[in-house]
Amino acid sequence: MATVTIRNLDPEVKDHLRRLAARNNLSMEEQARILIRDAVAGDAVPPQRIGQIEEMLRSLAEGKESSASASNPRQGIAGARILLIVGGGIAAYKCLDLIRRLRERGASVRCVMTEAAQQFVTPLSVGALTADHVFTDLFDRQDEQDVGHIRLARESDLIVVAPATADLMAKLANGLANDLASAVLLATKSKVLMAPAMNPAMWAHPATRRNRATLEKDGVLFVGPNRGEMAESGEAGEGRMAEPLEIVAAIELQLKPAKQRLIGRRIVVTSGPTHEPLDPVRYIANRSSGKQGHAIAGALAALGADVRLVSGPVNIPDPLGVTVIPVETAREMKKAVEAQLPADAGIFVAAVADWRPADTGAEKIKKIAGKGPPPLAMVENPDILATIGHNKQRPALVVGFAAETQNLAKNAAAKLKKKGADIIVANDVSHDSGVGAKGVMGGDRNLVRIVSSAGIDEWPEMTKAEVAERLASLVAERLSTDS
Ligand SMILES: Cc1cc2nc3c(=O)[nH]c(=O)nc-3n(C[C@H](O)[C@H](O)[C@H](O)COP(=O)(O)O)c2cc1C
Repeated sequence: MATVTIRNLDPEVKDHLRRLAARNNLSMEEQARILIRDAVAGDAVPPQRIGQIEEMLRSLAEGKESSASASNPRQGIAGARILLIVGGGIAAYKCLDLIRRLRERGASVRCVMTEAAQQFVTPLSVGALTADHVFTDLFDRQDEQDVGHIRLARESDLIVVAPATADLMAKLANGLANDLASAVLLATKSKVLMAPAMNPAMWAHPATRRNRATLEKDGVLFVGPNRGEMAESGEAGEGRMAEPLEIVAAIELQLKPAKQRLIGRRIVVTSGPTHEPLDPVRYIANRSSGKQGHAIAGALAALGADVRLVSGPVNIPDPLGVTVIPVETAREMKKAVEAQLPADAGIFVAAVADWRPADTGAEKIKKIAGKGPPPLAMVENPDILATIGHNKQRPALVVGFAAETQNLAKNAAAKLKKKGADIIVANDVSHDSGVGAKGVMGGDRNLVRIVSSAGIDEWPEMTKAEVAERLASLVAERLSTDS
């Protein structure tokens, strides 16, 4: 596949591509590749998609939104009062673009800058973009008289921290308030959305992970960080701040007046692979990336559901507004799911290992010369879908995913009954399915059939984000007719 040089695109096209990618939770490169691949695929594109692709490309050329992701960007946050706290990291320069994006959507933006932030961007630039005074000092007598840190904390619909430094996260997680930014964060009753940005080692540090877990428990929302190149040369990994348009999308999601059909519903979703240990250092796993399960959890949360995402080990960011319960093995996953019951719906997307090694040694299995490989005895893992499908506390709606390579419809229909599920989402992972096992497991696209007592509904090939949105809508429909 040829390299797509986003830098060389027309600015208007680039801007639109960025928005489309943020909405689909993809990088701009991934989104561009999908558009180009679909456009050149010709016959390989399912007829249902051709119109949509044509429209997307036309919209790209015209620099406006396609109806596939249509929403007036000005509608969601026009009139919203956003307090932006800028922390002291290299990504602080991106806050200038973020302010511009928010203001062009009709939001008013007030800024607090930490002392460290002012080493990276000046209050002069920030103030020029917010068209407002920039607040920098807790002990500024004039500011305290005019607005005061408590009013600053209270007079906003949402507080956004971007970049959220390791330091700011640590302060809020521990209730410190020794400067204006941390005092405002502690005094606010508004929702707080953090966009962390830091070196991958800082992000991976157990202290930062503990702080993040504490903040999430306290109701702080997160967007990103993403994986990618750091501003520091030669470094790459997880820790790069979400792009301004991704942050805008997260803000819109948070402030959007509810067309939220799943408010008051608790939904348990499983995602990712399981890791079944052989010994303390080895495990058996599969290729599941968690992309589909995470996208579904995010789409359900966007409709207002209280989503509990029980996830095996994955390398992707947590979806916004979702409570994540990380697990490793199938048995841990089952226990974590059961602990979330009662729930209105359970969506079982995780690729759970059918078997696990019978003995998990406490010591690393040693290679002994002349003895050959050790025998590998396996035992069956619990069937989480069937357990919940036949459970006393069975959710009103149970949806299972099934990866099939042959007799897809027949196998999925048999599974419906056996597992006690209402819907089986059957992935065609056969190699002649177009998407294929490698494409589905880890890729960004999916080809599914919805099997229920009403019959089989074949959905065209689409992105995992699109499958997620459509499935969330179906869940909302089914739950509203059930109650
Ligand atoms: C060049 C440079 C870049 C930095 N980048 C980051 C960063 O991206 N993320 C981070 O958490 N800290 C970063 N730091 C460290 C913070 O600036 C430092 O922890 C500071 O105390 C944060 O203050 P604040 O949280 O009040 O803004 C950087 C420091 C320097 C000198």
